[in-house]
Amino acid sequence: MHAASPPDADDALQRWNERFSQPGYLFGREPNAFLVTQSARLASHARLLCVADGEGRNSTWLAARGYEVSAFDLSPVAVNKARALAAELGVSVEYQIASAGTWTWSAAQYDAVAAIFVQFAAPAQRAALFAGMWQTLKRGGLLLIQGYTPKQLQYRTGGPQQLDHLYTADLLRELLPQAQWLELREHDAVLGEGSAHRGLSALIDAVARKP
Ligand SMILES: C[S@@+](CC[C@H](N)C(=O)[O-])C[C@H]1O[C@@H](n2cnc3c(N)ncnc32)[C@H](O)[C@@H]1O
Repeated sequence: MHAASPPDADDALQRWNERFSQPGYLFGREPNAFLVTQSARLASHARLLCVADGEGRNSTWLAARGYEVSAFDLSPVAVNKARALAAELGVSVEYQIASAGTWTWSAAQYDAVAAIFVQFAAPAQRAALFAGMWQTLKRGGLLLIQGYTPKQLQYRTGGPQQLDHLYTADLLRELLPQAQWLELREHDAVLGEGSAHRGLSALIDAVARKP
C-alpha cells in the first residue's frame, strides 16, 4: 500500500472551481469576524492585500471602509464572483486570478496582508508562502491570520482534513521568526460563515507586526 500523492495544482483549481460554482457564497458574503475586529489596527487609507480571497467577502468589506485593496485567488470562478460582489456593493478592489505559488511578492508594498483560512499549502510550499507574505509587507505592516488548528480534525466543521496543513502557535512562530506578535491565540469558537465554515471550530488568531 502506498500513500496517495498530494493533489497537484490542476486538481486544486478544479476542486475550488467546482465548490465555487454552486449557487450562493461558500463562506458567506459577510466579512470574517476576526478580520473585522482586527481592522481597528489599520490606519485609514492603508494599502492591503487579501491572499486567496475567494469570493470577495473580505476584500469588498475592507474596500467599503476606504482601504486601497488588492486581492488574488487561484479560482477564476471565485474571482468572477468577487468582482460581481464588488460591483454590486459599489466598491473598488484590484482583483487578479493567480496562484500563491507564482504570485510576485513585491517587496514592502502593503500596510497589511490578510491571510484568512489560506491553509491550502502543504509544508513544502508553506514556508515560501509565509516568506512572500512577509516580504510584501512594509516595515510596521501587519499580517492578519486566521486558520484552523489540529483540534479541528475532531470537529470537522470546515477546513482541510490534512493535519500538516493546520496551524499551531509554535508553527507560526517558526514560520515568522522576526514577527512581533500582537495576537497569537488558539481558541474554540462557533463559526457561521456560509455553508462551509459552520459550527464549533478550533481556531488560531494571529497578528504579526513586521518590525
Ligand atoms: C477556505 S477558502 C478561503 C477564502 C477566503 N480567504 C475567505 O476567507 O473567504 C481558501 C481559498 O484558497 C484558494 N486557493 C487554493 N489554493 C490556492 C493557491 N495555490 N493560490 C491561491 N489561492 C488558492 C481557493 O480558491 C479558496 O478561495
